[in-house]
Amino acid sequence: MKKVMPIFGTRPEAIKMAPIVQALQADDRFECLVTVTGQHREMLDQVNELFGIVPDHDLNIIQSRQTLNMVLARTVDGLDSVLERVQPDAVIVQGDTTTSTAAALASFNCGIPVAHVEAGLRSFDLHSPFPEEANRKITSQVSSLHLAPTSVARDNLLRESVAAETVYVTGNTVIDALLEVVGLRVPFSDNRLQALTQSVADGRRLLVVTTHRRENQGEAMRGVGRAVARLARENPQLDVVLPVHKNPVVREAVLPALEGLVNVLVTEPLAYGEFTHLLALSTVVLTDSGGVQEEAPGLGKPVLVMRENTERPEAVTAGTVRLIGTDEERIYREVTTLLRDQNAYDAMAQAVNPYGDGQAAARTVSAVAELLGVGTRLPQFRDGLGEGPGTSPCT
Ligand code: UD1
Ligand code: UDP
Repeated sequence: MKKVMPIFGTRPEAIKMAPIVQALQADDRFECLVTVTGQHREMLDQVNELFGIVPDHDLNIIQSRQTLNMVLARTVDGLDSVLERVQPDAVIVQGDTTTSTAAALASFNCGIPVAHVEAGLRSFDLHSPFPEEANRKITSQVSSLHLAPTSVARDNLLRESVAAETVYVTGNTVIDALLEVVGLRVPFSDNRLQALTQSVADGRRLLVVTTHRRENQGEAMRGVGRAVARLARENPQLDVVLPVHKNPVVREAVLPALEGLVNVLVTEPLAYGEFTHLLALSTVVLTDSGGVQEEAPGLGKPVLVMRENTERPEAVTAGTVRLIGTDEERIYREVTTLLRDQNAYDAMAQAVNPYGDGQAAARTVSAVAELLGVGTRLPQFRDGLGEGPGTSPCT
């Protein structure tokens, strides 16, 4: 059996890696050795618990108000001995967090091939998102296998002269994860959320908000809080739910403006099944999250993205996602338009799914099998979006 080590540390990596871990565990060509860095703690454990994933190695690196360099140093240091001891045949990393880049570098330095899931996303601005754009470019430099979620991402890699035979389009595993949980419509553990199911059925509107990006922390995030508070005050028929990130810096910025508003419900981070249920109930989604930009379009929900750019242009092109930046007045205006103008709403509320078909994990495992000489790749994901040869369908 080939030893394959998925390494991850934050909530979004755990969600997107879960279908891959499940596929590896079900495949007798592989011994799957899950390593978590613990860059996140509660938010990571919440996802692993949902998907029944028990890590083989846990570096438990988290520190309150950790800096990027603390995460980087503690991950590389902790992985060095694990990699030395276990000697995996390949490592799998996901996305653009400091965990993923540190794990890719540590593995590369040990001579272990790296498979990069969700490779090739680019905002083309090194400082936004920060530090994720740099992270994903660095990881591309040290990876042996580039698993691009869409043909747009593939084309980005090919333009950077990454060898074509090492790039393979899989779809995004977030859609595998979403399809696994969204049909379950799990009951909410918080009674106030459960009550929203009835309010939405009775015609009240629901705005779901998430924010956490480092480049938005501080004044921009205080403005998000003020804009949401104004929306709640001026729209008594609207309920707002904000499952707030565990980061104390985020809480200090966004929460003060929302105190005392009866139609604003602030919750702890929701278990993935509950959060996707909430998305399915929502009228509009206001977010700076990467993963939420990929999930909500598949559920036919308009997404207003509080960023200046995105490395996920596919749903923007499809019309379901709009970039609105973080200006307080603009946030207020854009949400208000969607709440009041049915034509504007209908134009964005189209269920589109450019990000995957639920088979991304199976494709990923087939490509890792080929990398390790124990199988051949499945046909690639066909999204018809890219510009390169073989785009539609992918070859
Ligand atoms: C990180 C990732 C970002 C990803 C986000 C997902 C990097 C550089 N950033 O954000 O790409 O979009 O995670 O949420 O890797 N905390 C807890 N418990 C938790 C999680 C966080 O207490 O379960 C607190 C800790 O005080 C921690 C702080 O939140 O120090 C910030 O966590 P961190 O992972 O460093 O956040 P970001 O870098 O902002
Ligand atoms: N999510 C969740 N519970 C919540 C909020 C978000 O499970 O309370 C999920 C969401 O569905 C998405 C992921 O967390 O899959 C996104 O994580 P985050 O926004 O923290 O990171 P990003 O995607 O921006 O890197």
